[in-house]
Amino acid sequence: MQDKGEQTTSITTRQKGELLGKQELVSRSVVKNLIRAAIEGMENSYAPYSHFNVGAALLTKNQKIYNGCNIENASYTPTNCAERTALFKAVSEGDRDFAAIAVVGGKDGMLTDYCPPCGVCRQAIREFVDPTTFLVILAKSENDYMLYFLEELLPMGFGPEHM
Ligand code: THU
Repeated sequence: MQDKGEQTTSITTRQKGELLGKQELVSRSVVKNLIRAAIEGMENSYAPYSHFNVGAALLTKNQKIYNGCNIENASYTPTNCAERTALFKAVSEGDRDFAAIAVVGGKDGMLTDYCPPCGVCRQAIREFVDPTTFLVILAKSENDYMLYFLEELLPMGFGPEHM
């Protein structure tokens, strides 16, 4: 059993790099590019109700980047998260092989904290990726980020192979 202190240490150790060794498609410079693209994506965020702006940038295995923003709606439930905007853009353009996604977000676009993807987005991404290698990058800036494999954020997720 890990205590809380050990868990914190292990996350901090992984902030930069360790997981990248296991993901040959995603170098540190690619991570920075993705974070920059996510921040650019956030510029188009339409969030007049929550004022919580989010941007995401999805990397294909061919090193193509699709970014996206959250798009809110006056009737609330049709709201689309930034991650799914990026995912649906990519899939609708014929891309289905993905290596990583970077996510940034905060109230009024201030990146004071990490913005973890919601459960619906984790599941939407799960459909198209290998959760043991797909990287989720949570960033506050190009130099301040945390890395996770999708399987850590969505353990035992339901995927196409279960159908
Ligand atoms: N949001 C995202 O775009 N991605 C997330 O992972 C978390 C939440 C958006 C949805 C809504 O527009 C706003 O953030 C507040 O929930």
